[in-house]
Amino acid sequence: MTSKGSSVQDDSHSDYHKIKQQAKDSMHRGVWQNRFEERFVPLSQREMKCDLPKEAIRAISQGKHYISYRGIPMAKDPFDIVLYETLFYELQPKAIIELGAYTGASALWMADILKTFDCPAEIISVDIDLSLVDEQAQAAEHVRFIEGDCHQIEQLFPAKMLQDLPHPFILIDDAHVNIDGVYGHFHQHALRSGDYFIVEDTVPWIPGKFGEADDQTEWGDWKWGEISDFFRNHEADYRVDQYYTDFFGYNTTWNWNGFLRRQ
Ligand SMILES: C[S@@+](CC[C@H](N)C(=O)[O-])C[C@H]1O[C@@H](n2cnc3c(N)ncnc32)[C@H](O)[C@@H]1O
Repeated sequence: MTSKGSSVQDDSHSDYHKIKQQAKDSMHRGVWQNRFEERFVPLSQREMKCDLPKEAIRAISQGKHYISYRGIPMAKDPFDIVLYETLFYELQPKAIIELGAYTGASALWMADILKTFDCPAEIISVDIDLSLVDEQAQAAEHVRFIEGDCHQIEQLFPAKMLQDLPHPFILIDDAHVNIDGVYGHFHQHALRSGDYFIVEDTVPWIPGKFGEADDQTEWGDWKWGEISDFFRNHEADYRVDQYYTDFFGYNTTWNWNGFLRRQ
């Protein structure tokens, strides 16, 4: 519906006809497949750097402590909120496993987005301690919370359960433990060609202690070190999707080189 109110008829202040024509000419629905000359590259071709300065990441990390979804605290930065949504629309996943449920807000948010896209997916979110999971999240359709320890990943996600998952499938590692065991297990039993693996918090410059706003320590590059070992050993199987990692500038995400597609 368009409005012909007097305020919009007066266009003397700007040449909006020209602007709209330019926008129309460059308009594109969904993902710009030709945005990068080479979209999928091996991790070994990527650098551990980011176009955002360290001070900006520290400042945005402070703001992250105040982010909520439907009133529930959620630990996502503003860049990844956009990147997840874009990826979800492109991939139309049928299943998502999130390691690290926290309050359940991120699982609820993902379920809501996918519902809006008319693409309901089965979402399983696990945590070693589900005591903070909000009742709105617990009541969400298509979301299941499981309490368990990623150190015992074979018991938490038996191979048979993973083999029965529908695809496309997305794995999100936001628990940051037992990297080799967890990644190897999902690699062997769950991730197939075309699936995505989102490796959260590879950025070294965020505060070291989750949830502490005035923390002066630094998270560091330990996660990067561990994931690089894994992906070096599976070099042929995964590609970094630069469309997402570099959407706002080189690695302008909390997940540096952390959007990977299985070949
Ligand atoms: C960064 S938070 C997750 C944030 C959430 N995904 C979000 O976006 O809002 C990390 C979570 O991992 C959980 N966690 C830590 N160690 C774990 C383990 N061994 N197994 C499962 N979950 C664990 C913590 O309890 C915490 O809730």
